[in-house]
Amino acid sequence: MGMKIAVVGATGNVGREMLEVLDERAFPADEVVAIASRRSQGTEVSFGDRTLKVQALENYDFSGTDICLMSAGGAVSKEWSPKIARAGAVVIDNSSAWRTDPDVPLIVPEVNADAVEGFSKKNIIANPNCSTAQLVVALKPLHDRARIKRVVVATYQSVSGAGKEGMDELFNQTKAVYVADPIEPKKFQKRIAFNVIPHIDVFMEDGSTKEEWKMVAETKKILDPKIKLVATCVCVPVFVGHSEAINVEFEEEISPEEARDILREAPGCLVVDNPAEATYVTPYECAGEDATYISRIRSDPTVDNGLSLWVVADNLRKGAALNAVQIAELLINRGLVGKKKAA
Ligand SMILES: NC(=O)c1ccc[n+]([C@@H]2O[C@H](COP(=O)([O-])OP(=O)(O)OC[C@H]3O[C@@H](n4cnc5c(N)ncnc54)[C@H](OP(=O)(O)O)[C@@H]3O)[C@@H](O)[C@H]2O)c1
Repeated sequence: MGMKIAVVGATGNVGREMLEVLDERAFPADEVVAIASRRSQGTEVSFGDRTLKVQALENYDFSGTDICLMSAGGAVSKEWSPKIARAGAVVIDNSSAWRTDPDVPLIVPEVNADAVEGFSKKNIIANPNCSTAQLVVALKPLHDRARIKRVVVATYQSVSGAGKEGMDELFNQTKAVYVADPIEPKKFQKRIAFNVIPHIDVFMEDGSTKEEWKMVAETKKILDPKIKLVATCVCVPVFVGHSEAINVEFEEEISPEEARDILREAPGCLVVDNPAEATYVTPYECAGEDATYISRIRSDPTVDNGLSLWVVADNLRKGAALNAVQIAELLINRGLVGKKKAA
């Protein structure tokens, strides 16, 4: 008997991408099951050159499932992940429900793969927020070399980060602008077409948003609790791909040339950075790609040992689906689930 994988949220942006990534990477599963809400029961989703019939979460029996890739939002995860975990499947969750739980590892395989061993306390592993995942992939190799003291980051986040409703809202509002139809924001707080919105998730008491707080808390948990970080998270009218303007202050001196060389060798990173020829990346070029792209590496002369950089990744891939599948591969390679575990 081989591995049995369930994808919960299979009709959503992240779930559909998970199915694509599982197929592309020839994930060693004998059976892949697509699960969503009762609304989608009986509909079909693509899995490679096949289609899978969607099953309803509340009717599904998870016994015999090895890994459950979960991307159905925080409320569904809070209720269902512990039940699925008790049935014996390791849950890899994409929502924010478990990320700060001390008994749940928060994993980006290129950064803190060893922390995965702690999964058995709850049988749940958390995937970070999309903007944190690409940030820590780029920062980890630089932190190892020169120790990061402080990070200031501004994000330019695509509407797919707000799910399929977010993408529909940008599409419909853009059309409405051209035909002078009225625009009524639903998913976003203000009009997103031809606009930018410095407001993602709810406001906190200190005036920051929960999205900004997540970047701070998750970077500390994954990379180093000593790193000071402040973020401004902004939603922009881009369908797929998050961009980040990052300013880093290090303890030790590090030149842009050395940073470029380190990042060229770093797992998951792709440096596209030739100022002489104005070479850099934009989210449009990174959609559908696995790498975290790094451009515009330069000195920040306003602080000691400062660097600025521009980091772009596909938020549905490295920010969600790809990272979750990489965690599943990590579990298999370390013999923590499936056949090797049973042997
Ligand atoms: N988009 C990103 O960049 C990103 C990145 C990291 C993490 N995440 C997280 O991943 C999760 C999913 O995001 P998304 O962008 O894929 O959202 P989405 O496009 O809105 O999809 C939501 C999915 O959840 C399912 N669902 C909703 N309620 C359910 C229920 N009661 N029982 C079972 N399934 C239910 C939906 O099924 P129906 O179609 O049947 O309603 C759909 O498959 C969220 O927690 C999000 O925060 C997203």
